[in-house]
Amino acid sequence: MSPSRAPAPKKSEGRSSSRRSVTPRSHASAEDPASTREEGEQVLGVSGLGFVGVAMAIAFAHYGHRVVTYDVVDARRAAIAEGRAPFFDPGLQEELTAAVESGRLKVAKDREELFRKASVLFLCLPTPPRPDGSVDTSFLEEEAARLGKLLARAEGWRLVVVKSTSPPGTSQKIEKILARESGKKPGRDFSVACNPEFLAEGSLVADALEPSRIVIGVGDAKSERALRESYRGFPGAVVVLPPAAGELVKYASNALLAVKVSFANEMARLAERIGVDVYPVMEAVGMDPRLGAHFLRAGPGFGGSCFPKDLRGLVAFAHHRGVAMPVTDGALGVNETQARHVVDLTESALGSLVAGREVALLGLAFKSGTDDVRESRAFPILGELLKRGALVRLHDPKALEVFRRSLPPAVAAAEDRQLRFCTSVEDALRGASLALVQCDWPEYREVPLTLWKQLKDRLVVDARRSVNGPALERAGVHYAAVGLGQE
Ligand code: UGA
Repeated sequence: MSPSRAPAPKKSEGRSSSRRSVTPRSHASAEDPASTREEGEQVLGVSGLGFVGVAMAIAFAHYGHRVVTYDVVDARRAAIAEGRAPFFDPGLQEELTAAVESGRLKVAKDREELFRKASVLFLCLPTPPRPDGSVDTSFLEEEAARLGKLLARAEGWRLVVVKSTSPPGTSQKIEKILARESGKKPGRDFSVACNPEFLAEGSLVADALEPSRIVIGVGDAKSERALRESYRGFPGAVVVLPPAAGELVKYASNALLAVKVSFANEMARLAERIGVDVYPVMEAVGMDPRLGAHFLRAGPGFGGSCFPKDLRGLVAFAHHRGVAMPVTDGALGVNETQARHVVDLTESALGSLVAGREVALLGLAFKSGTDDVRESRAFPILGELLKRGALVRLHDPKALEVFRRSLPPAVAAAEDRQLRFCTSVEDALRGASLALVQCDWPEYREVPLTLWKQLKDRLVVDARRSVNGPALERAGVHYAAVGLGQE
């Protein structure tokens, strides 16, 4: 996930679908940890109020810590100060309200105030990709340079924690910049640590409140103590590693999850060819606890702000060090061809080309439960449909507008001739030839059979197993799906 997206924000599948719902805790009870806190206890700072920064600030406050936050975007600071969630994620608004009302979550008016008040400062800033796929850490570096100037005048030890997903060695780089700009000594006057996040969109708050593990990459005992104290009250084991190892955990985790998805998609292609349904196959595979049940759902491929970017970043990082990454590269390769595969599957189910046909493309977000369209597989699927001459009607219950705004100019130019934006599923389906479901929004499962039956070619292609295929077949609508071999 890219931690801070300003002005727009950030995180369901697999992991989150099995996570519990978030029950906001009471923040005003007599046993409230904050009411027993002593003055002078460490205050936690969060710089960057994107998905990660907001979720973590809320979680720290939830467990009774005092948190001061800051973002360069005025509107973002104002929203948090007023307790208004700046983006949608389940439970976020409720937890933010509770955190602000408890008085434990504050917003600093400037960076100086943030740095003066916080003794442990979490940097939740973006680490976008460069054109060659490598990771751009300049937001972190520039922030470190500014903080270094503040550190020069500061009293007392500070811990700066890199929370952003950043390549191994980044914390060390940040330490050097802070030392250079402040003239102070690492280890004695300040320390730098890393603490990767594992929050998924759609379950940000639940993931922040109940982490599967807390990884801290530290170089000295004082930093370890401060970070352990920052996570006082949180469930989840604390794993202590050297900083570069901590940084690598994040990339290895995302890469392995993405490898599982691409593997499921590779198996899906084989299953389609031999007349087997890959879903029960992967469910049975996932029952082996050594393999794990999550991230084995075949679909249109992985998208979002994290997997594609992080895998490319990892491959570029390794490549610069002369290390080949064939497994990670392979996962990216399968992903890049999956959109074309979905359209091939559509044409094969149709028994004809899509050229000149009206295709309802349902679901534009990169996964359900979010309006985030970054690296959504809807983009390459749309590109492929347009290239093959289809007329496309687009629908998403939450992400229609943001998808429209994110279209590359060349594609947006097709709006008059080949594209139509539909604000209701009815509008998308009525008069269309066929439907292609890219995202498993619950709404699509609720579409009445009478509407599906109006499709001129009576065909639904489901890239996510979102709709009831057998019911469609019984109603005389042909149902094809990724990984569903037709005997
Ligand atoms: C991912 C990780 O799950 C988080 O642990 C991590 O913190 C985050 O990246 C990050 O680096 O910040 P996220 O990108 O929000 O979180 O979404 P996921 O739920 O992991 O889904 C990623 C993509 O894989 C989506 O396109 C999803 O539809 C796809 N997917 C997932 C499948 O196609 N099949 C599956 O079985 C699971």
